[in-house]
Amino acid sequence: MARAYFDHNATTPPAAEVVEAVARALSEDFGNASSVHHFGQRAKALLDDARTAIGQLIGAEPAEIVFTSGGTESDNLALRGAAEALEATGRRHIITTSIEHEAVLNTVKALAKRGWTATLLPVDATGVVAPASLAAAITRETAILSVMHANNEIGTIQPIADLAAIAHEHGALMHTDAVQSAGKIPVDVRALGVDLLTVSAHKFNGPKGAGALWIRRGTRLVATMTGGKHERNRRGGTENVPGIAGMGVAARLAKNKLATDAPRIAALRDRLEAGILAAVAGTLVNGARDARVPNTSNISFDGVEAESLLIALDLEGFAVSTGSACSSGTLEPSHVLRAMNLPSHRTQNSIRFSLGSGNTEEQVDSLIAKLPGVVSKLRSLVRR
Ligand SMILES: Cc1ncc(COP(=O)(O)O)c(C=O)c1O
Repeated sequence: MARAYFDHNATTPPAAEVVEAVARALSEDFGNASSVHHFGQRAKALLDDARTAIGQLIGAEPAEIVFTSGGTESDNLALRGAAEALEATGRRHIITTSIEHEAVLNTVKALAKRGWTATLLPVDATGVVAPASLAAAITRETAILSVMHANNEIGTIQPIADLAAIAHEHGALMHTDAVQSAGKIPVDVRALGVDLLTVSAHKFNGPKGAGALWIRRGTRLVATMTGGKHERNRRGGTENVPGIAGMGVAARLAKNKLATDAPRIAALRDRLEAGILAAVAGTLVNGARDARVPNTSNISFDGVEAESLLIALDLEGFAVSTGSACSSGTLEPSHVLRAMNLPSHRTQNSIRFSLGSGNTEEQVDSLIAKLPGVVSKLRSLVRR
């Protein structure tokens, strides 16, 4: 059976050039990048090259980039590292949003257990944070603001530059989780005006287990992974040279292809979305449709349980995702859709379609053709 992958916000297939770079680094450049000898210096050259490539992807200086094991670790380093550095100032208030990834939400919860006060900003019905709600919540006690650039479930893009300006007026640091935007839309740390920015390689056709945190020069941050003096004392541990080399290659490819890939993928996404809305009754798009990364569409299907639809589509050869997590037999509604105040049935009947550079018109048309039959079968089962 021909299978089509529509789950690129979960992870992406590594590009052929990436696979080659990882394999080469594993076999030929196995040195420890901290070693002074030839083997070490070859590994270090790969790290330097990847640092330059990530810098170019996000408009940053290579020296400001710290390699980590991925988005989750970068978010942890940003928030825990900044919190520990700023505790001495007496400020212990952190603001984030109700639609962040768990990597941020659970880190903020951990800080709250350590005596920090946390505020979760609401979003409107389209999934966007209003700068006015930040202006109302921020105080002189606020040390850190963390708002994701693009949301993983609905793809909406937040007004990061406006939010960063408000944070800075109040003397707070600004972090953004750009895991779902880097490689999909232009990301420029200076234009965004942030102090800390997270990226993860496996979301832009790089390998899993490699990521980076950009730390604006002069930003106070305490290492959370204590160990050797790696990464200029900001992250102890021998660098994952193959993963990082692969991330560098992926970053270069993403930057070079952005201008052609983004409109092509947006056109495919729009074709899929329009096709589904026309072919299947009782469907609605969740989240803002303009301020959105080009690859994501989140759609509610009335009278269908998202998990059942996901499984039915998988049997037909289409990989999609739901925002709801299935735990111990009960469906947890998506916290993102709940934060948008969608009616409860819509928080449990929504499917995320996330496209990537490998998708084709044929795949999109075949999914549109299959969906009406699959959905009506599921609806008839529910009605019985
Ligand atoms: C917005 C966002 N932040 C963080 C992460 C975590 O990244 P990683 O899988 O590299 O730990 C993800 C992954 O889904 C994400 O979508």
